[in-house]
Amino acid sequence: MPQFERIVILTGAGISAESGVATFRDKDGIWSRYSIDEVATPGAFRRNPALVHDFYNERRRQHAGVRPNPAHAALARLEREHEGEVLIVTQNIDALHEAAGSRNVIHMHGELLKALCAACGARLPWQEDLSTELACPACGRTGGLRPDVVWFGEMPYHMDRIAEALGRCDLFLSIGTSGTVYPAAGFVAEARAAGAHTVELNLEPSDGVSLFHEAIHGPAGTIVPAYVDRLLGAGAPSGAGEPSGA
Ligand code: APR
Repeated sequence: MPQFERIVILTGAGISAESGVATFRDKDGIWSRYSIDEVATPGAFRRNPALVHDFYNERRRQHAGVRPNPAHAALARLEREHEGEVLIVTQNIDALHEAAGSRNVIHMHGELLKALCAACGARLPWQEDLSTELACPACGRTGGLRPDVVWFGEMPYHMDRIAEALGRCDLFLSIGTSGTVYPAAGFVAEARAAGAHTVELNLEPSDGVSLFHEAIHGPAGTIVPAYVDRLLGAGAPSGAGEPSGA
């Protein structure tokens, strides 16, 4: 494996699946049980804020019991031991990368454990249920608190920083994402345009698998630690998750 200097890693719901967090588009995924239009758009929140709060309150409660899995731990180890830069850009709103020890993490779709005040713009650490009756601790106004998550139709966070990192990376990894939601689904093309080697690590071929130089398929908890071992030169690949040569 060649030496890489600057690594950008896009993660999606699949990296947290083995921690017990539901993915979105797999069989029994979140979007098979809920409608995006009813719980994950600004219009949904205007029409029925209580329903949207219930949806995220439930996910926040479930989050209290989840722990990072070996895939999160391997990426934290990569950040610690790699001599160059390692940046994780996650679409996930869980805090499992941080819980595993990763520090250089961008939450492009926001964070479940934060609230955003629509009245004053404050972003506040938040562990409890949200409701329309609560007052914002920063400005005191009632009814403006919402989950600090990016809904469909809203602009993801930190796009300038992400574009800058993609434009200078030499290795781009995409882990546990179906590659269906833009702008994240377009990052592989940006990284390739910058000359990066691109690798998909996913349970199965994603929609965009043909865009990658290399693809390794299997459960993240197995294939990510094996790939990180290879990158760090700490040992031979375990054999799990055969490269599919896409
Ligand atoms: N290991 C690796 N990959 C897995 C595993 C696993 N154990 N389990 C599932 N996967 C893969 C699935 O095969 C699928 O390709 O993870 C991917 C999850 O895809 P999605 O459910 O579409 O999740 P994601 O790509 O993160 O969704 C993007 O869509 O609804 C929005 O805002 C939400 O951030 C989310 C965005």
